[in-house]
Amino acid sequence: MGKRIITYGTFDLFHIGHVRLLKRLAGLGGHLTVCVSTDEFNAIKGKKTVIPFEQRAEILGACRYVDNVLPENDWAQKRDDIMREKIDIFAMGDDWSGKFNDLSDLCEVFYLPRTEDISSTSMKAFMEALRDDQLLEIKHLIETLNAKASAL
Ligand code: CTP
Repeated sequence: MGKRIITYGTFDLFHIGHVRLLKRLAGLGGHLTVCVSTDEFNAIKGKKTVIPFEQRAEILGACRYVDNVLPENDWAQKRDDIMREKIDIFAMGDDWSGKFNDLSDLCEVFYLPRTEDISSTSMKAFMEALRDDQLLEIKHLIETLNAKASAL
């Protein structure tokens, strides 16, 4: 029988790093559960997403590598989830390397290499830079128009 795998994350602005992680996780076994951080839990973590929880969960549910989507409400639920869902492998990207080794009394714990040069944070920074460029352009336009108006 295939193994049951679980992973946790925010998955904001679903990107290629997320796809590759989920593809590799699905490749480890038979059944993949993804626990998606709720907006309330992200607020506790000091994180604000562009995409609200319900949509992030729906997007993950539409991904062919994902069999089950659950909410992640707090740090402490992992042990209960692993036991209830009869999980064989708990896996995360290696930005979390070593952080969840205490779960290894319940199941295998894996850390997979992250995809380089992409993150939700970098995408947000890119969008903010675009917005700042546009604001600058609008400011210049207003200054030019004002200068022309006062020259009349
Ligand atoms: N992940 C990955 N490769 C990336 C980005 C994320 O493998 N380039 C993995 C993370 O290691 C994690 C999962 O995807 O196991 C969900 O990560 P999440 O924190 O939602 O993605 P990030 O893009 O890292 O988001 P942020 O910038 O907000 O931390």
